Amino acid sequence: MKSFTATLSPILALSLAGLSTAYSHAQLNGMTVFGYQAWYPTWDPNHQPQDQVHSNDFKWFNPSQGTPGPPSPPNSQVLTDTLPYVDDYPAECWENTNFILANGSHAQFFNSYCTAVIEKHFQYMVQYGIDGLFVQRFFDAATPSNDYFNATLQALQTIRQMAEKYNKYFAVEYDLSGKTDAWGPDQYLTVLQNDYNNVVKPLFSSQSYIYNGTRPVVEIWGVAINNGTGPNGSKFKDIINRFQEAPENPFIVAGVPHNWLDYKTKDPNGYWPAFQQADCIQPWPVGAFSTISDFTWSVQHELLPGKAQTDSWGIKFGGAFTPGGSNRNANTNATYQPPLGNRFNGTFYEEQLKAFSNGTVKSWFNFGAMFDEYTEGELAYSEFGIFETDKECPGTQILPMVQFKDLPKNSDPGFLGSDDDKSPFYYMQLSGNYTTVFHQTWGQQSVAH
Ligand SMILES: *[C@@H]1O[C@H](CO)[C@@H](O)[C@H](O)[C@H]1NC(C)=O
Ligand SMILES: *[C@@H]1O[C@H](CO)[C@@H](O)[C@H](O)[C@H]1NC(C)=O
Ligand SMILES: *[C@@H]1O[C@H](CO)[C@@H](O)[C@H](O)[C@H]1NC(C)=O
Ligand SMILES: *[C@@H]1O[C@H](CO)[C@@H](O)[C@H](O)[C@H]1NC(C)=O
Ligand SMILES: *[C@@H]1O[C@H](CO)[C@@H](O)[C@H](O)[C@H]1NC(C)=O
Ligand SMILES: *[C@@H]1O[C@H](CO)[C@@H](O)[C@H](O)[C@H]1NC(C)=O
Ligand SMILES: *[C@@H]1O[C@H](CO)[C@@H](O)[C@H](O)[C@H]1NC(C)=O
Ligand SMILES: *[C@@H]1O[C@H](CO)[C@@H](O)[C@H](O)[C@H]1NC(C)=O
Ligand SMILES: *[C@@H]1O[C@H](CO)[C@@H](O)[C@H](O)[C@H]1NC(C)=O
Repeated sequence: MKSFTATLSPILALSLAGLSTAYSHAQLNGMTVFGYQAWYPTWDPNHQPQDQVHSNDFKWFNPSQGTPGPPSPPNSQVLTDTLPYVDDYPAECWENTNFILANGSHAQFFNSYCTAVIEKHFQYMVQYGIDGLFVQRFFDAATPSNDYFNATLQALQTIRQMAEKYNKYFAVEYDLSGKTDAWGPDQYLTVLQNDYNNVVKPLFSSQSYIYNGTRPVVEIWGVAINNGTGPNGSKFKDIINRFQEAPENPFIVAGVPHNWLDYKTKDPNGYWPAFQQADCIQPWPVGAFSTISDFTWSVQHELLPGKAQTDSWGIKFGGAFTPGGSNRNANTNATYQPPLGNRFNGTFYEEQLKAFSNGTVKSWFNFGAMFDEYTEGELAYSEFGIFETDKECPGTQILPMVQFKDLPKNSDPGFLGSDDDKSPFYYMQLSGNYTTVFHQTWGQQSVAH
């Protein structure tokens, strides 16, 4: 098969890499990283032009025109169940709403593309002892004609700059989950090849880029995520293989469904060979379990057998966990109570962190879903015109949210808060504390906070 960059053979590339100092980059093994989306553009004309990537903001609110909240438009159009805690961002990165908090202030959303917002997130990582991020790169945003191409590129470069400034780590995670099986090589090969060569490969020289051994880490998220309707296994296998054959020989993490082992026997769409092509398998946690007892079941029936399967193939297993979330308001259905509607005061998250950090499931690295995802408008088309079905993780962010006691008193549409008796940074604290435990499980020094 043809690789993305055909100038050197993989064998030669490996021997060249071997000449450089082995492991001069931060190593994936033992790390705990969080998925990062830089998800919220702003529509406010008062923002700086460089911060304005689109004339609307349909990630927080829909329709996007006007000021969210009472008296209009209808409150049911809020796409988040929680309100972000924004006090640490400069006011020019805020987006005003008409939701009135208990103290009389207007609740604010924020603009993810503000440099100061991204910088604050890295300062949180330093403060709480979090290793770094996997930055999501949607296929459409990697397409130069897309409205978001320039903005996501700028965000990626800001993330690189901040990772270097704060001694934190990052890698790129392509998200190919939104595509249909009609998506053929003529539609993706050139885009992926150009994006790899022009955008992703230059990041590999960053001291903050995450490697496995001498191989830069790249995740391909979405393999088998939409079984039967998404791209089939042959296409994913080919994409993974082409990345691996590039001279830099990227280490490919495949983001797969929690029940990926079922494809061993039920696989007319050819995903099982694609899983085996990867260097690491990472089963997706959101929707996989929503209570502690679900999770305990999953450890026995999905995670430990999955780890044994990857061991038998000689590839790695990536752990992934979620604090839990909910998607009531985006569903525009106040009676809809999804199973993820409760974080169980952090106990659900902590139980997962424990099992993935104390050696119960001895994963090669761990991934938290997600760092900054307060919403994802599940019923709407996503920002790139993709209808996303299986990947929803609204409200799964570890970033702080407004506490219950501070929420608007008006119950329409109603919001979930952060527990009053805990710091709004409770999920950040847990994340950092178990990052340290996981480093110790792999015999690594704990990171300084
Ligand atoms: C009002 O409450 C919000 C949410 O807790 C907080 O972020 C904000 O700083 C408070 N505003 C004032 C003026 O105290
Ligand atoms: C992205 O920026 C380049 C260079 O400034 C510009 O030529 C191009 O039109 C922009 N693309 C989009 C989709 O706005
Ligand atoms: C991943 O890195 C480890 C060192 O941490 C190395 O022993 C292993 O061979 C690497 N795996 C692959 C598939 O490159
Ligand atoms: C995947 O979808 C096919 C139909 O396209 C079905 O036969 C198969 O059982 C499904 N596999 C799993 C693991 O759900
Ligand atoms: C995947 O789709 C391609 C293109 O339609 C086809 O050639 C290939 O046989 C399919 N693979 C599987 C496993 O269905
Ligand atoms: C709202 O959610 C409830 C509970 O899931 C469901 O029974 C009902 O059909 C939904 N209503 C609409 C209009 O979707
Ligand atoms: C690790 O954590 C899990 C989940 O709480 C627990 O069941 C298990 O006993 C713990 N194992 C060790 C060795 O502490
Ligand atoms: C979680 O905390 C809230 C207050 O923040 C309390 O009302 C609720 O009972 C607690 N739930 C559990 C399961 O501890
Ligand atoms: C995290 O660890 C610090 C230092 O040991 C401790 O003070 C804090 O209570 C821990 N936070 C949580 C949420 O466990």
